[in-house]
Amino acid sequence: MPVKKLTIQVVHGPNLNLLGSRETSVYGKATLASIDASLEKWAAKESVALNFFQSNHEGEIIDCLQRASKCDGILINPAALTHTSVGLRDALLAIAKPVVEVHLSNVFAREEFRHHSYISGIALGVVTGFGAQSYELGLVALASHLRGK
Ligand code: DQA
Repeated sequence: MPVKKLTIQVVHGPNLNLLGSRETSVYGKATLASIDASLEKWAAKESVALNFFQSNHEGEIIDCLQRASKCDGILINPAALTHTSVGLRDALLAIAKPVVEVHLSNVFAREEFRHHSYISGIALGVVTGFGAQSYELGLVALASHLRGK
């Protein structure tokens, strides 16, 4: 049986466009472009189409999610919006697709305000603390879930 083609929306929140130069002791040296490229490499082999979006603006991210209502699942690093945004949570609930939340850093080993996430409670799962690899682990887990494995 041919493998079902999946479409996954990848969303990067505020300041992640600065990866590679931003607080490298916390977030590592990988750039956002290199993270997207490594996800793309895996996805191409696995019959998964990825749509990438980054914005520093909450409303633009919500608009992107509303446009993505036909995708099969969402891989998101909400960045600072993780800890602040009811609007983002509501947008994810509205489109009702499986969501995997990822973070480069281990948010639980950091300041207390990063310990709360508005997204985790509605996510399929959370991967936090593995640097750029958090995205890869999250993508593999999301695709497996969507394929019923
Ligand atoms: C982050 C963690 C957030 O607390 C922070 O605001 C970010 C990045 C991470 O990937 O580790 O911008 O989501």
